Amino acid sequence: MNNIVLIGFMGSGKSSVGRALAKEKEMYFVDTDALIESFEGQKIRDMFADKGETYFRECERKCFEWLSNNVSNAVISTGGGMPTVIEDFSSLGKTIYLKVDFETLLERLKAEEFDKRPLFADVKFARKIFEIREPIYTQKSELIVDANMKFDEVLKEVSSKA
Ligand code: S3P
Repeated sequence: MNNIVLIGFMGSGKSSVGRALAKEKEMYFVDTDALIESFEGQKIRDMFADKGETYFRECERKCFEWLSNNVSNAVISTGGGMPTVIEDFSSLGKTIYLKVDFETLLERLKAEEFDKRPLFADVKFARKIFEIREPIYTQKSELIVDANMKFDEVLKEVSSKA
C-alpha cells in the first residue's frame, strides 16, 4: 500500500504533522487512535480503565490488519505503542519515525493531554517506556526525522522525504 505511516512516542507530533502533510500531498489522513475509539465506541482512556492495556493492544493489531486490507493513499498516524505489537509496517507503506527527546515531549504535552494519555500519568514510568521503545521505533522505520524542531521545519523535512 502506498501510505505514509508515522510512528513515534506520544507527543512527537504524529497527528499534527500528519494532518498537515496529508493536506499538502492531497492524501487522506487517518489516526489509528481515532479509528479504534470510533470502532469501540469508547475513549482510549476509558478503554484502558475498563478493559485494560492488553485489550487495547489487540484493537491496535486488528486496526493494522484492517488498514492493510483497506487503506491506500493516506497519511496514517499511529498510536505510540503500535510498533510494540506490529512486527513490520512495510506492507502498509513508507514508515517514518518522528524522533524527539524526552525533554521536548515534557515541554510540549500540556496537563490536559497528559490526562488523555494513560501511560503518561506517571512521568517516571513514561521515561522508562520511552527508553525501551526508542530502539523499536528505529528498527521499524524506513526513515528517521528529527522532530525536536519547530512544526514547520518538521513538516518540511517529512514532506521532502516521504
Ligand atoms: C499510547 C499512545 C497513545 C494511545 C494510547 C497508548 C502508547 O497514542 O495509543 O494512549 O502506548 O504510547 P499517541 O501516541 O497518539 O498519544
